[in-house]
Amino acid sequence: MNKELSERIEACVAVELIAAEIYLILADTFPAERDFFMDLCQEEQEHADILTIGMGFQRVGDVPDYIVPESFLHIYETFKLARNIKKKLKNEKVSLKDALEMTLQMEDSIAEKHFQDVFNHAESDSYVINKLRTLQSDSTRHADKIKAFMKNKNLLD
Ligand SMILES: [Fe+2]
Repeated sequence: MNKELSERIEACVAVELIAAEIYLILADTFPAERDFFMDLCQEEQEHADILTIGMGFQRVGDVPDYIVPESFLHIYETFKLARNIKKKLKNEKVSLKDALEMTLQMEDSIAEKHFQDVFNHAESDSYVINKLRTLQSDSTRHADKIKAFMKNKNLLD
């Protein structure tokens, strides 16, 4: 694998891990919604694992460049957004509605969206992607889960 692709995958792993941390903070902040946030936390950890395993899959087959977004800068933008959200959640009192809106923003950002675009597709021409997809326990898009949850709680505008 080329060095540049490895760097982008590493950066995406960092994004998935910070997303997991955000959901863990939310699980602690909103005990009544703990299960919902813990599921998302676990799935973000799983995304990080899938990308990490993907890097090790070079022996099995070619890891396609499109496994992660093509621009390192765009990945870093998602990382910065997530870092700001994490900071805000740790330092300020945020309502459940505001917290969910922040997570929606994160799920719609480049690196998070890209992962789901790649791994939620029915079938890929890449053996590695198809294999990695089997490690995913639930492929429902996070943005859809969050919106359904908000609707259920009457928090959607
Ligand atoms: Fe993710």
